[in-house]
Amino acid sequence: MSATAEQRRLMPADIVAMKGRVPVVCLTAYTTPVARIADRACDLVLVGDSVGMVLHGLPSTLGVTMEMMILHGQAVGRGLARALMVIDMPFGSYEEGPAQAFGNAARLMAETGAGAVKLEGGAHMAPTIAFLVARGIPVMAHVGLTPQSVNTLGGYRVQGRGADGGRLLEDAQAVAQAGAFAVVLEKVPAGLAARIGAAIAVPTVGIGAGAECDGQVLVIDDMLGLFQDFRPKFVKRYAELGAAAAEAVAQYAAEVRAGRFPGPEHSFADEVAP
Ligand code: KIV
Repeated sequence: MSATAEQRRLMPADIVAMKGRVPVVCLTAYTTPVARIADRACDLVLVGDSVGMVLHGLPSTLGVTMEMMILHGQAVGRGLARALMVIDMPFGSYEEGPAQAFGNAARLMAETGAGAVKLEGGAHMAPTIAFLVARGIPVMAHVGLTPQSVNTLGGYRVQGRGADGGRLLEDAQAVAQAGAFAVVLEKVPAGLAARIGAAIAVPTVGIGAGAECDGQVLVIDDMLGLFQDFRPKFVKRYAELGAAAAEAVAQYAAEVRAGRFPGPEHSFADEVAP
């Protein structure tokens, strides 16, 4: 990428500066063509570890590897010109401590060109976030429903209801104070998300966390109707591409069986006219 193109890329500081001014628009992407589409409309494109469930058919994000993230990160990087690219640290790549996290975060950034990493966890991850930020790795934090902890959370349920709300607020404050440039709030009651947003200086980016967040993120295959295994309440379908694709495939199969495809316009003549 040229120096000029690089200068057009948004950086974590640009995302921080949006707080209180304009909503941060974020989607996931896992491939070059989809990254190109997202880049035209988004400020931040996340190479989420949701890739494991959405593209690889895994039952959770726990089986996602560094190699998968790097391959998809490289593909997404080729499709972005403006949006900040953030890449998820997969399960098991950062939890041991700051040194392990630094090694893997540096590798993700060096091999994909991502401008930041995202990792899951609240106050207990604050020392790791501070360690990374101090060494040049911008971090987006992720609290609330943290899918990599599905087994200890006991499922994909709403987080922070009742007495747990105070702990979640403390988690968000801890990761923001540690230097995270934005905090994803997943599946958090809208009122609590608003209180968290008012309590921290960096943008909250909500997914199932109400309209008062400083920005929103969705998994792109969910909002396009491509991923149909399940449909969380917080997903709004902006298109039904899964249904459109199934219809197109059925029509193709019917035309092949009926001898209607390929037609002359899709075939090559034996002789080329002089
Ligand atoms: O992996 C992912 O796509 C995410 C978003 C849902 C925030 O973490």
